[in-house]
Amino acid sequence: PRSGAASVSKGQKTELGVCVGDSTSLPDGGRLQAKIGGRYVTVLRIEGKLSCIDSICFHAGGPLGLGDIEDLDGKKCLVCPWHFYKIDVCTGDKYYQGMEFKDGKLVGGEWKSNGVRQRTHEVVEADGKIYVKVASGSATERVDSDGYAFDASCGERILN
Ligand code: FES
Repeated sequence: PRSGAASVSKGQKTELGVCVGDSTSLPDGGRLQAKIGGRYVTVLRIEGKLSCIDSICFHAGGPLGLGDIEDLDGKKCLVCPWHFYKIDVCTGDKYYQGMEFKDGKLVGGEWKSNGVRQRTHEVVEADGKIYVKVASGSATERVDSDGYAFDASCGERILN
């Protein structure tokens, strides 16, 4: 018999969040792009772990959600195609490489965060479907990517 979840279709709102697709549409290493409540989000599965992050880069509105994935000391980052900012897909932290003087030379040192700049969202998988709950601005502090998150033509805003 068909379970309840099997009949949930893409775009449908449930208590788990909005269904963004079947689990099979997001294999390991894959990603899904979705627009939820006027907000563009990217859902990724990296080494089995799901994450969801604003697709539009906080820096200057670039297509972060299309960026390559890079591993920074075990942290999985999207690299924005425009200016190569590295953003943690799980936390939204923006990383930079600290510089150090070694033997009179300036060399790249440890990767450090200069804060959560990109908003991440709750994502769950249940009964072969993937669901996203877009973070509500009224309950959370503003994140820089909020400024670019919305389709201007949509007219919808969660945050001020
Ligand atoms: Fe993404 Fe500049 S717009 S790094």
